[in-house]
Amino acid sequence: MAENLRLRCDAYTAAPMNTPSHLAAALFQPFALGDLTLPNRVVIAPLTRGRAGRERIPNPLMAEYYVQRSSAGLIVAEATTISEQANGWLESPGIYTDAMEAGWKGVTSAVHAAGSRIFLQLWHMGRASHSDFHGGSLPVSASENPAPASPSAHQLGNACGHGCGSAVDRAILRACPTTSAAITGRSSPPSECGSGSSGSG
Ligand SMILES: Cc1cc2nc3c(=O)[nH]c(=O)nc-3n(C[C@H](O)[C@H](O)[C@H](O)COP(=O)(O)O)c2cc1C
Repeated sequence: MAENLRLRCDAYTAAPMNTPSHLAAALFQPFALGDLTLPNRVVIAPLTRGRAGRERIPNPLMAEYYVQRSSAGLIVAEATTISEQANGWLESPGIYTDAMEAGWKGVTSAVHAAGSRIFLQLWHMGRASHSDFHGGSLPVSASENPAPASPSAHQLGNACGHGCGSAVDRAILRACPTTSAAITGRSSPPSECGSGSSGSG
C-alpha cells in the first residue's frame, strides 16, 4: 500500500515546481501517534460524502471508499452524528443506533484488514442544522447566536444561508418565516428567495 503512495509521489517530484524531494521523503517516514505507529505522514482529512442513505447507516460502499484510501498513514473518517438531534446534513452517517454501530464495524474491519488505521470524527451540527431535520423545531445549539451564512450563500445573495433553487433549498426557504428571525435577524425571507416560504416545496 505504501508503495502505491511512494510511486505517486515519485511522479510528482519528477515534475518541475513540485514538492522538494527531501519533503517528499519525510512524508514517507513513520510517525508515532500515541500508541499507534503510522507508516507514513499522509492523513486523509474528514470528508462528508453523504452516502449513508436516509437511515444514515454505514454500508459496503463506504467501506470500499475507505479501503481504497488505506495506504494513508491515517484516515479520519467523515463527520458522523452522535444523535438524532445532531443531524443537519442529508444522508451523512450516524453512530447512535446499534445498526449504525454495526455498519461502522463493517467499515473499520475492512480498513483494518487492509492494514490501515481509521479514526471517526464525531459531529453535532448545532446552529448549522435546520428545522427541516427536526420536525419543524429549531435546531439545538450552544447559544442563540445566529450562524453566519457561508461565502457561497452570500454570493447568491441569500440571507437564509442557502441558495435558492434546488428541492432542498425550497424546503429550507419554506421554513424561513419561522426561523429567519432567529437565524438571520430578519423577520421575513429576503426578496430574492421569492415566495418559497408558502410553496409546497
Ligand atoms: C466535500 C467536502 C466534505 C468535507 N467534509 C468534512 C467533514 O466531514 N469534516 C471536516 O472536519 N471537514 C470536512 N471538510 C473539510 C476538509 O476536511 C478540509 O479541511 C478542507 O477541504 C480543507 O483542506 P485543504 O486545505 O487541504 O484543501 C470537507 C471538505 C469537502 C470539500
